[in-house]
Amino acid sequence: MAGVDYLERIPNNVNLRDDRRLLRALEEWQPRFLDWWKEMGPEGFQANEVYLRTAVSVDRDGWAQFGYVKMPEYRWGIFLAEPEADRRIAFGDHLGKPAWPEVPGEYRGVLRRLIVTQGDTEPASVEQQRHLGRTCPSLYDLRNLFQVNVEEGRHLWAMVYLLHAYFGRDGREEAEALLQRRSGDGDKPRILGAFNERTPDWLSFFMFCFFTDRDGKYQLASLQESGFDPLSRTCRFMLTEEAHHMFVGEMGVGRIVQKTCELMRQHRTDDVRRHGGIDLATVQRYINFHYSVSLDLFGSEVSTNAANAFTMGLKGRFEETKKDDDHRLVDATYPALCLEGDRVVTRELPALTALNERLRDDYIADCQRGVDRWNRTIKEQGIDVELRLPHRGFHRAIGSFGEARISPDGRVITEAEWDARRREWLPTPEDAQFVATLMRPAVEPGRFAGWIAPPARGINGLPLDHEYVRLTRKET
Ligand SMILES: [Fe+2]
Ligand SMILES: [Fe+2]
Repeated sequence: MAGVDYLERIPNNVNLRDDRRLLRALEEWQPRFLDWWKEMGPEGFQANEVYLRTAVSVDRDGWAQFGYVKMPEYRWGIFLAEPEADRRIAFGDHLGKPAWPEVPGEYRGVLRRLIVTQGDTEPASVEQQRHLGRTCPSLYDLRNLFQVNVEEGRHLWAMVYLLHAYFGRDGREEAEALLQRRSGDGDKPRILGAFNERTPDWLSFFMFCFFTDRDGKYQLASLQESGFDPLSRTCRFMLTEEAHHMFVGEMGVGRIVQKTCELMRQHRTDDVRRHGGIDLATVQRYINFHYSVSLDLFGSEVSTNAANAFTMGLKGRFEETKKDDDHRLVDATYPALCLEGDRVVTRELPALTALNERLRDDYIADCQRGVDRWNRTIKEQGIDVELRLPHRGFHRAIGSFGEARISPDGRVITEAEWDARRREWLPTPEDAQFVATLMRPAVEPGRFAGWIAPPARGINGLPLDHEYVRLTRKET
């Protein structure tokens, strides 16, 4: 295992210097990545110094180094987690065989598709968030946004490395296409639905980090189990960065909830809009929206693609190696909620084709833990309101629930009831307009916008009024 070579143009721990062909290919891709970053990355802050964390090695302590960097000069690199000695495939038809150091020829297409689909989400979220800097609620939050953005950029590098190193010419073409598609574009949109939605304000951003990035966590966690060892090691390291994105989302929403509760107490009203806060009913509608579009990202309840990827040993379950079953699932079943006529019922599905549903279950449990923590904040303030995850069938476009209207409490309802009540359940144009009126930048060190509480602590032990982004040299 090589240490990180930081002197190279592309920092890496994969011995790039010894593979001239690959090095040259990536060095050709690098300026195109930078062009993309400048065109589609954070708008208006490319010349400012940002207090960022950069990965400098993959071991336990060394992977995070803090310092001021201008974003286009961020050291995007290629880092794989340390190899595990004698790693074996943990599931599927090849259970127990040595993990593959190269792409198994017969699985090439499926594997490439998995990598491209994951890779496409990384630049997509940067594109979705590119205008948010202009309306940051504090320098602390601005810095966190940019930290998330540069790390998503690095995740793109991670996937592009795999495409270039292991997939020859079609890998190179896919790497180009990753820079060509654009979030929300009519002609060449990003691959997955949620990554073409707009992220117009900071409430949406925090919800996105909490709900949609968390889908990423679960996808990466199951790809980390892959029998294709370079993919497994890549994802293992990406997950360490992903944890920060979950943190930004959970704390962001949590701080909004905190502020809202303070305003409710202070003014003895639920209607805190008049006092510059975001009322809990609006927070609930945003939860309903972001949760439901993120649930769709897991795919249909019944999926032969998911079954195949598992049987082939390419994509495992969440925490595959911790499960004690036969890891083949040929005869196993799994209970799944499905729509049957106008009723929601539990059906025992073949476990292999129900793998999407199982991953969705793991995800839902994780989301619920975060919502519980928000509810604790509300309770601590003596307020009798509970935020809830809507029923998994609510507002779904994919899978069996996509064919019906389901209320947040899980009833199959008529189109008429849906139309009459959707404004209670999903963000309305008026909600979006109201939230937009709050989006005024707070850029003096230590100042926080009036709709969000300050965090408990600053970055890397620094105080809250630290100048996390130096705005003195303004871009013109
Ligand atoms: Fe990512
Ligand atoms: Fe992320």
